[in-house]
Amino acid sequence: MYIDKFLLWTWTNIKQLLLWLSWILVTLLLTIYLTHSLLGQDKSDFLPGEGSHGHYQIEMACEACHTTFDGVKQEACLDCHSAELEAVDDSHPNHKFADPRNAEMLSMIDAQKCISCHVEHRPGMTRPMGVTVPADFCIYCHKDIADDRPSHEGMPFDTCRGACHNYHDNKALYEDFLVKNLNQEDTYGEPVTIKRNFMEIYRLNHPMKRLTMKEHDAPEGVNLEKGHDWEDSSHANAGVNCMACHANQADRTTWVDKPDHTGCQNCHDLEVSGFLAGRHGMRLAEGLSPMTTDMARQPMKANAHNELNCMSCHKAHQYSTVQRHTAVDSCLKCHDDEHSRAYKASPHFRLWNEEVKGQTAKGNGVSCATCHLPREVIKQGGLKRTVVQHNQNLNLRPRQKMARDVCMNCHGLGFTLDALADEELVRNNYSDSPSVHIESLEMAEKRMSKNKK
Ligand code: HEC
Ligand code: HEC
Ligand code: HEC
Ligand code: HEC
Ligand code: HEC
Ligand code: HEC
Ligand code: HEC
Ligand code: HEC
Ligand code: HEC
Ligand code: HEC
Repeated sequence: MYIDKFLLWTWTNIKQLLLWLSWILVTLLLTIYLTHSLLGQDKSDFLPGEGSHGHYQIEMACEACHTTFDGVKQEACLDCHSAELEAVDDSHPNHKFADPRNAEMLSMIDAQKCISCHVEHRPGMTRPMGVTVPADFCIYCHKDIADDRPSHEGMPFDTCRGACHNYHDNKALYEDFLVKNLNQEDTYGEPVTIKRNFMEIYRLNHPMKRLTMKEHDAPEGVNLEKGHDWEDSSHANAGVNCMACHANQADRTTWVDKPDHTGCQNCHDLEVSGFLAGRHGMRLAEGLSPMTTDMARQPMKANAHNELNCMSCHKAHQYSTVQRHTAVDSCLKCHDDEHSRAYKASPHFRLWNEEVKGQTAKGNGVSCATCHLPREVIKQGGLKRTVVQHNQNLNLRPRQKMARDVCMNCHGLGFTLDALADEELVRNNYSDSPSVHIESLEMAEKRMSKNKK
């Protein structure tokens, strides 16, 4: 009896029952899927919008910027960026706003917080360099500039930034620097060259003994033929044996067939940290898979499938930086934008070619790396050390970052500022003379002579 009734009930309600069951199933699957993506690497469903040009590579590492309950902390930004802002003597550091006379300004825009000007995941309102404030935001604090500087009368506030001023880095643009570099030649006869000196510094703590293949320290069974190029390399020359790179970093004794950058770090710490801080290595720095050409937003050679690591530019085991491969050809194996493609028609490439062939002195040529991986001199333990800066983003934007440490080794400041302001020259990779002129130097000169009177 009861069974009959139950069957009848079931039969009449079967549609509803199925609906309920499928609803439970869908919710369950959705929960599993979302939990999985939150814990796994694919957290894209929780992103409110596409990441900025600077951060999209690491946008799945939410915890690099977000805390669990407390939003985005200022410290997150500072952890990764404060060193570079300090190094360029940031023109608007927090302590300038700690001055009570300037406190009023902060009611317009809280310039002590990075996220007042750089929010994330908002492609619609994001300008170059991750800037999310209106183009004329300088007006908030400098609306009376024309009173102090009559030369600025009538200048629109959306033109302050770019060729004449930056918000953070004015290393090549501040007044005293302009005055110091008036009336220079466009191109000097003799470039300023910086020599690499790693060998001299390494020699201080290591016995230098040239090694041959007979003295290799690879364990038995390793295919020595694969390491053949090592014998003629600067590593063999400096006594760096196979195990210096091939030892497992944890136990230092077992063989690793394909060592990664951690093996190089023991001796080349600064090159590795530079690489990890820029767009070639930033994913590795966050523990993500290496960047590849397939993931890029910028134009890359089709089917390149190339992965970014030290060997992208340095051929194991040659590690020679003398050939063209490292500083030009390797770059063009991946990069395929208008600017990169135009390089081989530029006077800079002509000079670089002559340098490689020994037709002109070392240091006269300009490769991709001359501009993008420049040599820097740093002080370390009382010694002056030359480092090849492997963060190719450190001097990339804003563009005047290249002025002092790159262009001005060979060109005067006036020519440099004009050339860097010229969009067409970026596209044709500096193959013409500049067709724009920046008035900063004349303005600084005028003010100087007026002040003298
Ligand atoms: C490079 C740093 C960075 C990373 C990585 C990052 N975020 Fe954000 N996120 C921000 C900033 C900055 C804001 C704006 C904060 C504010 O306005 O207070 C933000 C805002 C948000 C918001 C609030 C959106 C809104 O409009 O208010 C959500 C949700 C969010 N992020 C989710 C995520 C998730 C999920 C991930 C990882 C998949 C992630 N974020 C990775 C920096 C980051
Ligand atoms: C885990 C390290 C990390 C954190 C955290 C981080 N950034 Fe970045 N940021 C980078 C890297 C790496 C780049 C790309 C290389 C470059 O442009 O210097 C970048 C790029 C940028 C750029 C764009 C530069 C350009 O030329 O396009 C800005 C602006 C910026 N970050 C600001 C911030 C702010 C503000 C925060 C805090 C909300 C923040 N970053 C958090 C590592 C980080
Ligand atoms: C009042 C607005 C404002 C604030 C606040 C601000 N920025 Fe910027 N930031 C800019 C602008 C504008 C640029 C574009 C380049 C320029 O003009 O300097 C920029 C560029 C950058 C760049 C690109 C590299 C460079 O040297 O210019 C980085 C990195 C950066 N900001 C990080 C930060 C960090 C970290 C903070 C917090 C400590 C911060 N910014 C606070 C406006 C701001
Ligand atoms: C939140 C307020 C604020 C904003 C926004 C702001 N500034 Fe400033 N700026 C200041 C303060 C404060 C000083 C320091 C004045 C002093 O030292 O007497 C300063 C100093 C300067 C200086 C001279 C100091 C130096 O070291 O070179 C220049 C140039 C400058 N700002 C340009 C700009 C430009 C261009 C913008 C827009 C991209 C801008 N500022 C946006 C507050 C601001
Ligand atoms: C300066 C660091 C360094 C030194 C020194 C070095 N290697 Fe390597 N070796 C590497 C790197 C990095 C790779 C991985 C290359 C790659 O991923 O394409 C490699 C790869 C190899 C491989 C595997 C190649 C393959 O394609 O499977 C062998 C075998 C090898 N090395 C043998 C040697 C021998 C033998 C020596 C000493 C005579 C030596 N290596 C010295 C860095 C080094
Ligand atoms: C045990 C220390 C040591 C390790 C580990 C090491 N190197 Fe070196 N490296 C040196 C020394 C010493 C030189 C020689 C400098 C010179 O000749 O001027 C050198 C030179 C170089 C050069 C310049 C070569 C030239 O001829 O211009 C490159 C590039 C290089 N190393 C890359 C790497 C890479 C990539 C790794 C990791 C796969 C690595 N090194 C691991 C010590 C090391
Ligand atoms: C984008 C290409 C590129 C990548 C990737 C790259 N390098 Fe380099 N590296 C160069 C170029 C170009 C030079 C030579 C520049 C010069 O002579 O001015 C160089 C020079 C060097 C030198 C010689 C520095 C000196 O002072 O003598 C070392 C060591 C080195 N690289 C190590 C590394 C290590 C370790 C990695 C991986 C973390 C790496 N490189 C990744 C392009 C690259
Ligand atoms: C294995 C491929 C590969 C090689 C080799 C390589 N790059 Fe890159 N490069 C990339 C990728 C991928 C990016 C990130 C592009 C993106 O995020 O859209 C990048 C980014 C850059 C950027 C930053 C662009 C930006 O807008 O922030 C510069 C500059 C650059 N590379 C220059 C060079 C130079 C110079 C060389 C040679 C010395 C070189 N690269 C070698 C793949 C490569
Ligand atoms: C004379 C110096 C110089 C030389 C040589 C040079 N570049 Fe550049 N490169 C620049 C400047 C300046 C920019 C513009 C930065 C900006 O404002 O976005 C740039 C931008 C780039 C960018 C970013 C493009 C974009 O659309 O954002 C890449 C990638 C790049 N260069 C790669 C290369 C490669 C690869 C070579 C060699 C084949 C090379 N560059 C040669 C100075 C140079
Ligand atoms: C190592 C020296 C050196 C460096 C570094 C260098 N240049 Fe040059 N540049 C030259 C020389 C030499 C010429 C050729 C001049 C000639 O043929 O009249 C040249 C040519 C040019 C031209 C073409 C001039 C014309 O009339 O055709 C431009 C534009 C230019 N450079 C801009 C730059 C910029 C911008 C930078 C920095 C990002 C830079 N250069 C870095 C040496 C250098």
